[in-house]
Parts: sequence; C-alpha cells; structure tokens
Amino acid sequence: MAQTTTQTSTQGKTSGKTGMAPVRTGIESTDRQRLAQAVSKAMAETYVLYTKTQAIHWNVVGPMFYSIHKLTEEQYEDLADAIDDLAERIRALGAPAPGAFAEFLKLSDIKEAPHEKQTAEQAVMMLCADHETAARTFREATQLADEMDDVVTADLLTERMAKHEKAAWMLRALVQESAIQTTGIAASSDGEAAGKQRQ
Ligand SMILES: [Fe+2]
Repeated sequence: MAQTTTQTSTQGKTSGKTGMAPVRTGIESTDRQRLAQAVSKAMAETYVLYTKTQAIHWNVVGPMFYSIHKLTEEQYEDLADAIDDLAERIRALGAPAPGAFAEFLKLSDIKEAPHEKQTAEQAVMMLCADHETAARTFREATQLADEMDDVVTADLLTERMAKHEKAAWMLRALVQESAIQTTGIAASSDGEAAGKQRQ
C-alpha cells in the first residue's frame, strides 16, 4: 500500500526515500535536497536565536534594560518573520520543514543559553556571537545555492546574512557604549584591541 506511493514519483506524490516532492523548477532533486538541508540548518539557528533573544528581552535587568529590551524586541520580530520565510523556501524546494525544537537544536551550531545567570553584558555578547555564528552558516548555505544556480534561495540567504551581521554590530555597539560610560574604556568584543596591544 505504502509502496505504491513511495516508488512512483508522479505529480503530487513525494518520494518515500527522501520525502522530496516532485518539483519541476529546473533544479535536480538531489540538489534540492542538499539545498533544503542547508536552509534547514539556517532555519534551525534562526529559531534557537529567536528563542534566546526573546528570553533576554523578557529577563534582562539593570541600567541597560530599556536599550536591550527595545533592541531585542526588534530583533526577535525580524527573526520570527525569517523563520517563516526560510521554512516556506524549504517547502518550495520540495522538502519537509523541520518543526520540533529538539530537531532545531540538533541541526543548529547555536546552542541554548547557559543555565547560570548572566549579566546584561554577558547576555548581549552571547547574542552577538550567536548572530556571527548564524552569519557564517548563512554564508556557507549561500555559496551552495550559488553553486546550484538557485538564485531565489541565494537571495533569501544573502538578505538574512546581512541582517545577522547588522544585528551583531548593533549588539556589540550597545555593550561597547555601556563600557565607555561606566569605565571610560571601550570594550573589545573581537580581540582587536588585544591584538593591537600585542603589536
Ligand atoms: Fe515584549
């Protein structure tokens, strides 16, 4: 019974082996499958980052509360929209979209927040590093989409990569500004200052 569905690949039927729908948009099924895997990892990281960003929006305390609360709100709203766009791109490629948090964590290089309490500054720098991780993942996936001449996926991933780079900059700037105000010394989040000192 199930075999009739799995062994034929006629219009509307998915392949039982791969779960891929018979999409005929000019990209081979194996290529679409590889692309869908790359986009799934990107989507999983977006989901984990969305959850972590929203938790900081709720729980942050201290003198930077309002700035962090506002910035994280803008960022988690943007991430929520991106999750939907990425999932729908996976479906357009003919693959099932991941839909369980355990699956997101398995696919994602971004890990859950530590259980120990963080200062506001630590939380912001954690998010900054996570956005950098996401930018690297999106860069790799964009390269794959380029190789496979999938300009639609490449465009979506490139747009998201720019958002992650911008988010990392804004978070880093927030902490650097706070460090200037409280200590008079600019914080170095990327080791640049440390590198200069060694020269
Ligand atoms: Fe809110």
